[in-house]
Amino acid sequence: KKHILDIASLAPEEIIFILDTAEALKEILSRPIPKVPTLRGKLVAHLFFEPSTRTRLSFEKAAKVLSADVFNFTARMSSVEKGESLIDTVLNIQAMGADLFVIRHPNAGAPHLIAENVNTKVINAGDGFNAHPTQALLDLFTVREKKGSLKDLKVAIIGDIRHSRVAHSGICAFRKMGAEVYVSGPATMLPPEREALGARVCYRLEEALKDADVVMALRVQKERHGRALFPSIREYARQFGINAERLALAKDDCLLMHPGPINWGVELHPELEKDPRSVILEQVTNGVAVRMALLVLLLGGGA
Ligand code: CP
Repeated sequence: KKHILDIASLAPEEIIFILDTAEALKEILSRPIPKVPTLRGKLVAHLFFEPSTRTRLSFEKAAKVLSADVFNFTARMSSVEKGESLIDTVLNIQAMGADLFVIRHPNAGAPHLIAENVNTKVINAGDGFNAHPTQALLDLFTVREKKGSLKDLKVAIIGDIRHSRVAHSGICAFRKMGAEVYVSGPATMLPPEREALGARVCYRLEEALKDADVVMALRVQKERHGRALFPSIREYARQFGINAERLALAKDDCLLMHPGPINWGVELHPELEKDPRSVILEQVTNGVAVRMALLVLLLGGGA
């Protein structure tokens, strides 16, 4: 593959190959010196036009473990602030020898536009409300590692589904791998059934949570609601926040997930912070392994 722009354009076999590669590479992270020469001489350009902690740093860590060189570009303090266009920016970075662009951008479709205009490879690190394919892949990896398989699992995604790129990519990814996906949240944050990418839309939270194998809570994307956020954050927490009582509706061995950043006390009650069902920090570690796999597979260094 030349690019990783969304989950929709990956076949299930390709997803399995990425997960298997990540599984093989994850071991490197626990070595005393977690460094291999696989991508020596390659230059990975991280272009972040929107804030990020996990995605940006895990791509950087992945590249460094594989001995690639990195450019860490943030739009702030760059010539974007002087009016330079997105395409001119990437063409200039390409002219300095970048082999791969990792792009996060507030506008849906920006990575696709870049992919059409550069000769190098592109990974979408989150574009507006559209897609976050590497998050979906690390979520699949985490569930497969814990449950052994993804097939026929009940995955409940709770929160601001309509505005969430994590939900869009997650629904697509889990369904491709044979899981059943249920989504729930306030009606203002749910898509109509026909636009739910095959997920079952539940207006009652209990229906989504009941006997779930995976409970994934999402952040309310306040920045994508304009001025009128309905319901209010306090009301959201009361009606849809996941707490111990609600989590008890899911299976006893369910996995509690969240892509981060978390607003404790809103989508997750602080009583769940150290809950043994939580794999939230494991998702973050697995994100490094999955991104290592994507760099190796796209840059062709061989594992
Ligand atoms: N999950 C995720 O994309 O987090 P960041 O926004 O911190 O990268």
